Amino acid sequence: MFQFFVLYLLVSRIGVAICAHVPRATILHHHDQLNAQYDFIIVGGASVLVLEYGPFDHHEDAVLVPGLLNLTSTPYWFNLTSTPQAHLQNRSFQVTIAAVVGGGTVINGMLFHRGAKADYDAWEELGAKGWNWDSLLPYFKTSETFTAPDAAFAREWDIEFKQHVHGNSGPIQASYPPYQFPVIKNFFQAFHDLGITTPKDPSDGSAHGVFWAPSTMDPVTRTRSYARIVHYDRVEQRPNYHILPMSAVTKVLFNDKKMAQGVRYLSRESGETYEVAAKKEVIMAAGAVHTPQILMLSGIGDGKELQKLGIGCISDLPGVGHNFQDHPTMFFINQFQKDLTPNADDLKDNATFQTEQLSLYRTQRQGAYTLVTDGGNTVAFIPLPNITSSTSSLLASAAAQNPKTIYPDAPASVLKGYSSQRALLIHHLSRGTISAQETAFNKGFLPLTLLHPFSRGKISINATTPLAPPLVDYRTLSDDTDLDIFLEILRFNRRLMLQEPLASLSPIEIAPGANITSDEQLRDALRGLVGPTFQHPCCTCAMVGREMGGVVEPVGLRVYGVRRLSVVDASLWPTIPGAHLMGSVYGVAERAADVIKRRHGLGR
Ligand SMILES: *[C@@H]1O[C@H](CO)[C@@H](O)[C@H](O)[C@H]1NC(C)=O
Ligand SMILES: *[C@@H]1O[C@H](CO)[C@@H](O)[C@H](O)[C@H]1NC(C)=O
Ligand SMILES: *[C@@H]1O[C@H](CO)[C@@H](O)[C@H](O)[C@H]1NC(C)=O
Ligand SMILES: *[C@@H]1O[C@H](CO)[C@@H](O)[C@H](O)[C@H]1NC(C)=O
Ligand SMILES: *[C@@H]1O[C@H](CO)[C@@H](O)[C@H](O)[C@H]1NC(C)=O
Ligand SMILES: *[C@@H]1O[C@H](CO)[C@@H](O)[C@H](O)[C@H]1NC(C)=O
Ligand SMILES: *[C@@H]1O[C@H](CO)[C@@H](O)[C@H](O)[C@H]1NC(C)=O
Repeated sequence: MFQFFVLYLLVSRIGVAICAHVPRATILHHHDQLNAQYDFIIVGGASVLVLEYGPFDHHEDAVLVPGLLNLTSTPYWFNLTSTPQAHLQNRSFQVTIAAVVGGGTVINGMLFHRGAKADYDAWEELGAKGWNWDSLLPYFKTSETFTAPDAAFAREWDIEFKQHVHGNSGPIQASYPPYQFPVIKNFFQAFHDLGITTPKDPSDGSAHGVFWAPSTMDPVTRTRSYARIVHYDRVEQRPNYHILPMSAVTKVLFNDKKMAQGVRYLSRESGETYEVAAKKEVIMAAGAVHTPQILMLSGIGDGKELQKLGIGCISDLPGVGHNFQDHPTMFFINQFQKDLTPNADDLKDNATFQTEQLSLYRTQRQGAYTLVTDGGNTVAFIPLPNITSSTSSLLASAAAQNPKTIYPDAPASVLKGYSSQRALLIHHLSRGTISAQETAFNKGFLPLTLLHPFSRGKISINATTPLAPPLVDYRTLSDDTDLDIFLEILRFNRRLMLQEPLASLSPIEIAPGANITSDEQLRDALRGLVGPTFQHPCCTCAMVGREMGGVVEPVGLRVYGVRRLSVVDASLWPTIPGAHLMGSVYGVAERAADVIKRRHGLGR
């Protein structure tokens, strides 16, 4: 869901670097307002043009006020459905990615943290030279301004942090909501009773245990801090920067030296097609679903597949669209018969509480509406050895799988990269250096998430018509290992409910249902309950070696085999980190901005 916002980092940085004096950026409304050419074109901002598929948001309450987010009614999703998922009872799913200026940051759960050190060290181990925890940490810090919680509140709720791993002058505001429901303490205690610890600060690379994550929230106004506001609204004061919303890029244009010359795009309002030139570079920030789609439409992908569609191949890169990853999720639903009050359900069904809390929010920026709807900021990221005693047998059976059987349509280079990913995953999962599961909690309705799936999906295209949707195949649970780990995740969370601090609330299990107990029943139930995504798509244009299925070279972030075309979004990552993705997307984009500016002599 983090589509188009990375570009704002680039916009702001490039914009700041080159246009230091004269004010005013331009939102274009008509295509004839475009310059003949720009230095940079960012798909998804010297002179910079950003082409964005979606509209601007309207700074409406549903975007700004954490507790008024409504994912059902938001108009900022792509209208896109996955292919039927063969291992999830052939169900199809909404592809939950955002179509709006600022991408997923406009409508996500605001959880702002980082994965574990080993999550990023794995990127380098897989061939992304120079990409590891130590080299990324400065960029994580550059991206944020961190505000500590009020001392008394932090004491009461045991919120700890380490100031030195956080930034103090970056664009995104990171702060803690000043309100919590009482049941949160029961959850923390129940996790602790199961031996799960709380790290001093999960953002220092130790992201395991049960902890508090900061929200992307302004500490004063207590409104969402997101890419549109902190990057676009900031560069609005700069010249030489144009943004054109409601514009779908359909093709990167190359000359006969395979040098990107610009892009072709279609106005979603008029249906007209236009072309615009880039003097220096075209930068892809369209997200893990649309970046590979646009590359394929432009002749970059598996040569044989492109030929079938009549697309002339410019760079034969079988990895484009492969290696698709996300965090499969199921909802473990419990009803507390003796719930504490107030609780998150009061925000749904207690009009008195709603009125009282909304008034508190409007007048004092306090209360339950500072917590994002259905979310909050309390999570547990837990390594496999801490949730099951079967770690070695689970991973032994993973090691015994033939990668070719799991991933039958992988081209040879992709399969080679995938095989090395499996070995590395097994290594880290067995040592507990990466987490296996997440439980997010603030009531009995718990999303349980598989953080490091062995299954891999694929983005492909079956048509060349400009607005034909890409085929999104998550292939969730195509490796049985993932289902087996999910079983252990569910069992662990059932044990959580049996711990006294939660058992005392008399939970009744609604889903999957307390009567579903045998392995076989659970496997069947999970295939019907697991969904393919936690809105965390990534890894479809990996920055690893070409011989390993790579699409982008890791040092300069340029697409192999062509010139003047780079990728800066989450499609670059070789493997998905065990974290909500936003923190990593901002960090990687800050670094990408540095890389691109440096090669054009634009400072830093
Ligand atoms: C969200 O929007 C949907 C559809 O408009 C509505 O049915 C639902 O009640 C809303 N949810 C909340 C929490 O307001
Ligand atoms: C979404 O796409 C489907 C199929 O392409 C179409 O029938 C439907 O009208 C679209 N919905 C919206 C709200 O655009
Ligand atoms: C899913 O669809 C495939 C192909 O149509 C079919 O062979 C299979 O039996 C279906 N599986 C289920 C669980 O319905
Ligand atoms: C996992 O278990 C080990 C061994 O008991 C313990 O040292 C570690 O703190 C636990 N990890 C978490 C995140 O709770
Ligand atoms: C609804 O909220 C009000 C105000 O917080 C509280 O006094 C009341 O007990 C709640 N009602 C129920 C049924 O929980
Ligand atoms: C592409 O696939 C979609 C979904 O499977 C299908 O509806 C559509 O007809 C296909 N288009 C072409 C040109 O094959
Ligand atoms: C479990 O209970 C539910 C609700 O009573 C029922 O629909 C379902 O068939 C039961 N499943 C099993 C495996 O007994």
